[in-house]
Amino acid sequence: MNIKKLIMMGASGLLLAGCHANKSGADQNALPEMPVLLGETLLADDSLHVNAHGGMILEKDGIFYWYGEHRGDSTPGSMQQGVSLYTSDDLRNWKNRGIVLQLLDSVGHPLELGCKIERPKVIYNPATGKYVMWFHHELKGRGYGAAQAGVAVSDTPEGPFTFIKSARVNPGIYPENLSEEDRNLAWDPQMEWWTEEWYDQLRHGSFVKRDLEGGQMARDMTLYVDKDGKAYHIYSSEDNLTLQIAELDSTYTNHTGRYIRVAPGGHNEAPTLLEHDGTYWMITSGCTGWAPNAARLLRADSIMGEWTQLEGNPAKGEGAETTFDTQGTYIMKIGDNFTFMADRWNPKNLGDSRHVWIPVKFDETGNPYLEMPTDTEVVTAEP
Ligand code: GAL
Repeated sequence: MNIKKLIMMGASGLLLAGCHANKSGADQNALPEMPVLLGETLLADDSLHVNAHGGMILEKDGIFYWYGEHRGDSTPGSMQQGVSLYTSDDLRNWKNRGIVLQLLDSVGHPLELGCKIERPKVIYNPATGKYVMWFHHELKGRGYGAAQAGVAVSDTPEGPFTFIKSARVNPGIYPENLSEEDRNLAWDPQMEWWTEEWYDQLRHGSFVKRDLEGGQMARDMTLYVDKDGKAYHIYSSEDNLTLQIAELDSTYTNHTGRYIRVAPGGHNEAPTLLEHDGTYWMITSGCTGWAPNAARLLRADSIMGEWTQLEGNPAKGEGAETTFDTQGTYIMKIGDNFTFMADRWNPKNLGDSRHVWIPVKFDETGNPYLEMPTDTEVVTAEP
């Protein structure tokens, strides 16, 4: 048993979540409730802290697959090996299943050791029977300059995943919601950054045009499969200043060319997404690297917009100004319940970054919010 201590607070105990059948056909009544994690060390069956960061959990036939960034540990010379996988049937005891997308000791390969893979997300495509992984990919030796989206596939959720390609997004194509007038508007590449005029030309698409030929930048990202089975890639673009949402094709391995810009110049990162009662919500972070900041909330009636950023912070109470010292990575839905999965980054030892999972609640107007749980189940690992 990796998790030695299960603390039950309040009356909710081991209540089972939800009662809807999911797409995989698993009986959601049988699925466990998502535990609350408050940043403790979380030991897997190898007695090591779960090394899966910026990740997500996929449920298939009652098994939970937790994919994330493998990061090195504090051992000298330790470095990222790729995307790690942990599995569980109770969301509490996690088995380390190793690296499912491996970085390679192969000079010049896009996945050469020393490149970066961040925020991997996996979705299942029922039409092709493939598990499709997308990730933020930075090439070796280029810092965060490449800003590419990588894609890999597997026949099983356990992997290994086979790398297909890595590139910027939708080269040569304008976003749907950039007007004809803006497309034709001249812009000045020399303009001093962060001035009013510079923001103004950015909002009118200067960076979209700058990157048009090679494709749009793609950094922090998530994936979302809509009710009709269409999948979308949501990513920080335009030097992290603007989110973009790009439709994927029926195989989920290519962009179709349809995409929109969201909150131009709004500096949103770490997009997480949920749909509740027909409204689409995004909880994002601001842009301060590994340091936590206040979350933001955006809403839309459909995934392709129009998106509006709401005033204020969806996190409430003490610690809200830093989203409880975290940055979101994914919103996990089980039955009718949503959980905000987040990373409490430790930039000095990224592998030791902690996991914080807190329930998403809805206020009387239907807006989602985040609050530190008081009366719920909390899982901790033995110190
Ligand atoms: C954060 C981002 C992380 C990582 C980090 C690097 O803003 O969310 O995924 O890229 O910057 O500084």
